[in-house]
Amino acid sequence: MRLLVTGGAGYIGAHFVDQAIERGYSDIVVVDDLSTGMQERLPASVVFEKVDLSGADGVDQLTSLLTEYSIDAVVHFAAKKVVGDSVQQPEYYYRNNVMGTLNLLTAMRFSGTPRFLFSSSAAVYGEPDESVVFEDTPCNPINPYGETKRISELAIANATRAWGLNAVALRYFNVAGAKNALLADTTTTNLMPAIRDRLSNNSSLAVFGDDYETPDGTCVRDYVHVLDLVDAHLVSLEAMERASEGRFDVYNVGTGRGSSVLEVITCFREKAAVDLEYQIVERRAGDPGALTADVHKIYSELSWRARLDLGDIVQSVVEYPPNPYSQSSG
Ligand code: UFG
Repeated sequence: MRLLVTGGAGYIGAHFVDQAIERGYSDIVVVDDLSTGMQERLPASVVFEKVDLSGADGVDQLTSLLTEYSIDAVVHFAAKKVVGDSVQQPEYYYRNNVMGTLNLLTAMRFSGTPRFLFSSSAAVYGEPDESVVFEDTPCNPINPYGETKRISELAIANATRAWGLNAVALRYFNVAGAKNALLADTTTTNLMPAIRDRLSNNSSLAVFGDDYETPDGTCVRDYVHVLDLVDAHLVSLEAMERASEGRFDVYNVGTGRGSSVLEVITCFREKAAVDLEYQIVERRAGDPGALTADVHKIYSELSWRARLDLGDIVQSVVEYPPNPYSQSSG
């Protein structure tokens, strides 16, 4: 299968490209606008094109690439992902994430590209009544980021019905960890990179609230290793190759186990063998108390399950600080 990978120079996209090559995918075209991605993450064997999916020329550029390289499947990672930013700049998030997806779908229809694998998010669930969410748990996103992912899912579902596209949407839970320093996450907004950042400059971590209805009062999340996550993509691609026309499947991708913020901190202290300081501050707006994936569907239908646990994730975050970060910290 010849793949076009959007956002392939980003943290998750580049891990996918790396693992796809290891599994024998030799024809890969990466498109990325390099707004946060880094081309250095990509091996020379990959064709790279700098494209803004949501730009005025997006549809034309994508249609040309899909046709020129006879692409069999699109893997769509490119998106903006900082929840707080999405509240501040909703129009920017809608343009990037929704327009980007619509332009891609349009180009796929024009070029007759049959398969679409979409990076969705547990953010589509919002603040559900139950802490364990199933794929049919109602979707009520509570921020523009989650809305852009949900709207994209709906647009994709409609495309599968309208013109026979085959698609899978993977709803990621809390992705963390790295294969190596080059591929590691360079942002510091999420919990694990934030802890790594505080460890390196000996500062204190702000823990957002300890009065949730959880065992230790801090928020519980389902942390999944990025290598497990990209494996779920490879399994989904294989399933799509066998699927009949017009199929659309949605899967949660997590471990099915929740860890609290304090448990994550304890794990970092063990793995890094240092005493990470923290202080409890106000709750962060829009944080659900507990959010854990039910992962039976992806296991029963695709035989996928996470193999790495919290200790493996934290170990890799400690071991592989991202390259630019290492340089800036000397
Ligand atoms: N947290 C802190 N201090 C920090 C950073 C985070 O206490 O400095 C806490 C948060 O309050 C939350 C937990 O750590 O309880 C995890 O927060 P993250 O920011 O790492 O992740 P979120 O659960 O908020 O969101 C992540 C992704 C979203 C995705 C969601 C799905 O950022 O894109 O997981 O579960 F939608």
